[in-house]
Formats: sequence, structure tokens, C-alpha cells
Amino acid sequence: MKELFFLLLLLALGAAKPFSGPASLALKNMMLQDTDEDDDDEDEDDEDDNSLFPTRQPIMPFFPFDLFPSCPFGCQCYSRVVHCSDLGLTSVPSNIPFDTRMMDLQNNRIKEIKENDFRGLTSLYGLILNNNKLTKIHPKAFLPVPKLRRLYLSHNLLTEIPANLPKALAELRIHDNKVKKIQKEAFKGMTALHVLEMSANPLDNDGIDPAAFEGVTVFHIRIADAKLTSVPKGLPSSLLELHLDDNKISTVELEDFKRYKDLQRLGLGNNKIKDVENGSLANIPRVREIHLERNKLRKVPPGLPDLKYLQIIFLHHNNITKVGVNDFCPLAGAARKKKSLYSAISLFNNPVKYWELQPAAFRCVLSPLSLQLGNFRK
Ligand SMILES: *[C@@H]1O[C@H](CO)[C@@H](O)[C@H](O)[C@H]1NC(C)=O
Ligand SMILES: *[C@@H]1O[C@H](CO)[C@@H](O)[C@H](O)[C@H]1NC(C)=O
Repeated sequence: MKELFFLLLLLALGAAKPFSGPASLALKNMMLQDTDEDDDDEDEDDEDDNSLFPTRQPIMPFFPFDLFPSCPFGCQCYSRVVHCSDLGLTSVPSNIPFDTRMMDLQNNRIKEIKENDFRGLTSLYGLILNNNKLTKIHPKAFLPVPKLRRLYLSHNLLTEIPANLPKALAELRIHDNKVKKIQKEAFKGMTALHVLEMSANPLDNDGIDPAAFEGVTVFHIRIADAKLTSVPKGLPSSLLELHLDDNKISTVELEDFKRYKDLQRLGLGNNKIKDVENGSLANIPRVREIHLERNKLRKVPPGLPDLKYLQIIFLHHNNITKVGVNDFCPLAGAARKKKSLYSAISLFNNPVKYWELQPAAFRCVLSPLSLQLGNFRK
């Protein structure tokens, strides 16, 4: 009896890799005696079954009693957390305990979420589906899980934001998928979406419906490594952080930040920005941190001295040829005095003649260490 238990445990632990060798094949045949699927190949038309552990079948027909009450075979269930990662699953297992709060299904081969996959899981709070092969999520799949707060869908093959997301959602991560558009009302009714991470998708500016975020509160959006050519204008006005690094943005225009008055951190590194229009940064008076490194700027962006909370500005790897004495700091006696000194200004890897820089240009910097000028950092 004990031996059999350990055998099962071993099987569960080794489940990420297909079995090979005659001994383990015999074992497998014993385990799956009433199915005749071949697990070494991906079985395209066998949608409902998991590769090693067919979920719709009785798990161990030869077992006289229920050894693991209500925990999918191969998974570990404790403290209302269900761990089913790295099992080669091709569908969401059934018999998930109804009181589950967190479900981890990452690193499997799940292709589709079906209408009833989460039925009955009314307490579900977190769902991790990273690194599967998801192409489809049924539009009603999330209806049974109204309390879902964290949904992780990164590293899949989804082409759109899933429909009818739970309104309680606080965090959606859909990094590295194939999402080309954010459709109208994609986030309808959500008032507490704090984090939207959707970098590494083939999303361009036209793909964002102007009404996609209507009435939605989002604090942190990251759309890095996409196909944006300008700062999207239709994002929620509640934004505190906006990260648009590694895109193809070529200019920052006057109106770009008009909606985002509360913005505190702005990431625009590694784009193709040549100009920051005078007045554009005046729309984000509370900004504390701006990343503009690895662009094509020819001068220090205008308007920095008026940003009285700005502490960090990265300008390294640009094409800046000179720095004026009033480019960073307000004039003595100016109406808008700085409230926070700079803790980091980076200017290295620019064609500026560093020996021509006037120390007075950095009179509002916290300490000499806050300034990175030379090419000592790559
Ligand atoms: C930017 O605009 C402000 C206000 O209109 C003006 O005072 C300032 O001289 C301008 N700066 C540059 C570099 O054009
Ligand atoms: C840098 O700016 C100069 C003009 O100031 C321009 O001729 C040159 O092509 C620019 N270099 C790059 C890499 O953009």
C-alpha cells in the first residue's frame, strides 16, 4: 500500500516529461488501462483529456476508496491553494475544490478555457495560467468567478483581451501574447484594476479603441515592446504609472499627456523620440520619474525646471550636444520652486562635451553622486 502511494507520488513528480522506456510504459499502461491514448504525441483531437491524467475518467478505477478527496490528480491542494503547474495538462482539470482561492496552472499545454472550466469556484481570487498554449477563452468562462482579483495569462497565444472579465479584477497580466487590439469596453465596469501589464504584444495605436477604457480606473499600465508609434491618448485618466519602453514612438506632442494629470512615473526608454514638445510635460506636474534613455533627443526636454517633484530623469544614450544652465533647475526666485531635489540625472553616452557643462546647471541635485555623466556606465 505504502509502495503504491510513493509510486503515484513519483509519477506525479515526473509528469512534466513524457515517460519513456519499457518499464515506465508498462506502468503507464497500468495507470491508464482503460484508455488507449498515446501521450508521447500531442493529441490534437483529444480536447477534453489531459495528456497523462484523463480528467473525465475515474482516476484510479482499481482503487477501493478516494485517497485524495477533491484534488485533481497530480496537483497539490492545501490551504485553499491548488498547485497544478508543470503537469503537461491540456485542459483545466475538473474536481477542483469549490473553496479554492488560488489556482496555479502555469507551464502546462492548455489550449482553451471552456465555458464551465471554473464553474462553482465562487471563492477564486487568483488564477495563474502563464505559459500555456491558450488561443481561446470562452466569453462566459469568468462568469462563475466574480471574486477573481488576479489573472495571469502571460506567455500564451491569445489574440484579444478576454471578454467579460470579472469586475473585481485588480491585476491583469497578458504579457507576450498575440493581442493586436484592445476592443471597445474591454474593461467595462472595472473600478479597481490597479495593474494592466500587456507588453510584448503586436499592439499598435490604432488597435486601442478610444472607448476601451471608458469609466475604468487603472493605476499602472505597461505596454512595452509593442508597435506603438505615439503615446496612446485614450488610456484612463487615473494613471499613476505609464510604461511604454521599447516601442517606436518618434515624438512627444503637446497633447500627449493631457489626460494623465496624476502621472508619477513615465517610461519612454528605447524609442525613437527626437523631440519633446515644449509644454507637453507641463501636463504632468506631479511626475517624479521620467525615463527617456536610448532615444534620439538632441536637447534636454524643455519644461523640466517646472516639474517640482521630478527626482529621476534618464537621458543617457541620446544625441544631446549641449546642456544649458537652466535646463534642469528653476531660476533662483522662480515662482515654481523645486519640492524634491534630483536623486538621479543620467547623461552619459551623449555627444555633449562634458568639460563644458556648468556646475550651476545641477544646482538642484541632491549630491554629486546623483549625476551620471561619463561613459563609465554602459
Ligand atoms: C516653453 O514654453 C514656455 C511657456 O510658453 C516658454 O516660457 C519657454 O521659453 C519655452 N521654452 C522653450 C525652450 O522654447
Ligand atoms: C545627431 O544629431 C545630429 C545633428 O545635431 C545629426 O546630424 C545626427 O544624424 C544625429 N545622430 C543620430 C544618431 O541621430
